[in-house]
Amino acid sequence: MKKNDSDVIIIEVSTTMLRLIIINKESNKIIATSSVSIDYIKRGIVKDVEALTRSIRSLVADTNKNYLNNIKKVVIALSGGALSSISSSAEIKINNKNNIVNEEIVEEIYQKVENRIPENISQNKKIIHLIPQKYKIDGRSVNTNKPLGLKGNNFELQALCIFTNKQHLENILLACEENNLEVEDVIVSEYAYSKNQVNEADRLAGVCIVNIGGDTTTVITYEENIPILLEVIPIGSEDISRDLALGLKVSLAQAKSIKISPDLELRRLASELTEVFISSQRMNIRRDQRDKAFFLSLQEKYHEIIYARIIDIFELIQKHLKKIGRDRLLPAGIIIHGGGAMMKDINIISKEILHLPTQIRNDSVCNKDLLKFKQNQNICIENGDTMSIYATALYYLQQDEANYFINKGRKDFPVILKNTINWVKQFLP
Ligand SMILES: Nc1ncnc2c1ncn2[C@@H]1O[C@H](COP(=O)(O)OP(=O)(O)OP(=O)(O)O)[C@@H](O)[C@H]1O
Ligand SMILES: [Mg+2]
Repeated sequence: MKKNDSDVIIIEVSTTMLRLIIINKESNKIIATSSVSIDYIKRGIVKDVEALTRSIRSLVADTNKNYLNNIKKVVIALSGGALSSISSSAEIKINNKNNIVNEEIVEEIYQKVENRIPENISQNKKIIHLIPQKYKIDGRSVNTNKPLGLKGNNFELQALCIFTNKQHLENILLACEENNLEVEDVIVSEYAYSKNQVNEADRLAGVCIVNIGGDTTTVITYEENIPILLEVIPIGSEDISRDLALGLKVSLAQAKSIKISPDLELRRLASELTEVFISSQRMNIRRDQRDKAFFLSLQEKYHEIIYARIIDIFELIQKHLKKIGRDRLLPAGIIIHGGGAMMKDINIISKEILHLPTQIRNDSVCNKDLLKFKQNQNICIENGDTMSIYATALYYLQQDEANYFINKGRKDFPVILKNTINWVKQFLP
């Protein structure tokens, strides 16, 4: 068995599941995976730390059935409604001897960019990624992502700040601490996905990546290989299940099954209704005709319900594109992934509303390694988004020195954790 330190362990806290993946650092091969369903993230925030602590314990215990090493260090992948972003900019004078941008200057400008974020936006939030969008020297854009060594008098930076809700993060860190897990890093999984699962050519041309998840839909748009904005829409595939339950008057579990296999499950429901109808009417009617009539009417209702929600989602995506001035202007179009992307007709609705080419990314097509591993081990990162956590692991492994400033905002996690723990300790007996 390989030593624990040769593997990276990621835990993703998404709106419907906690997922864990272990990847070998050298070969990038998947060693183990596990997942547990959760239902206590409300409006993007884990409210119940004890429940999360228990879920993480069970996730780790489940993983240890296949993975015998001690799980001590983890990387947290974040998704869902706790996330938001803003583009912020600042400028400073280069006052050193040779008028050269050095590490100090870069450090200072990043700090200034952070400080320029309006307080009503940064309040109760924590920056996870600070991604340079544009550098300017003496008012002119410089085409680089490594500004060290540039010469001039005035230095400007525009950067995308991706935040998480602070309370959400603190609660996750606390639950890890309770399980004796040291958090090495925190990464926004959708940013990681956009970096290593989408071609650079697409990001250069202009592309909008859409993750239809459980309770949320996350959108990140790129142009010239630069992320313009990340936005989280508070509607996801679970809303479609809830709408189906109400509209078809079935249980939530049944609605979910209908959503996943509409043809089969609507036929089943139609024959149940036929049975009830025949026994209550006590008359001679042709069962097959009745069955067919029920099925057609259920199918019509089903389409009405799911189209209404999917249209809502895509109208909000269109609003995002209008806000950033890219409506109908992205040559590489829309890439849709996540559990909700597996619904039929998503691409038709996307094209109809957004007037852009659309690709659906099915997890199993995306990554043969992941699929093979799941089949071989009968593993359950089932029904939903498995690529985001895998992409986060790859992103973590591919980080280098050049990312130091990009990821600068994450440096003080242990401080947050310590403060949180001290804060909690004052209430302990
Ligand atoms: N084959 C399928 N067809 C339709 N919907 C599906 C299918 N498989 C999974 N789903 C739905 O996808 C949703 C889960 O998607 P996903 O795993 O991407 O969510 P998540 O990562 O937990 O959420 P988020 O990204 O918002 O934090 C659930 O509502 C599930 O019912
Ligand atoms: Mg997700």
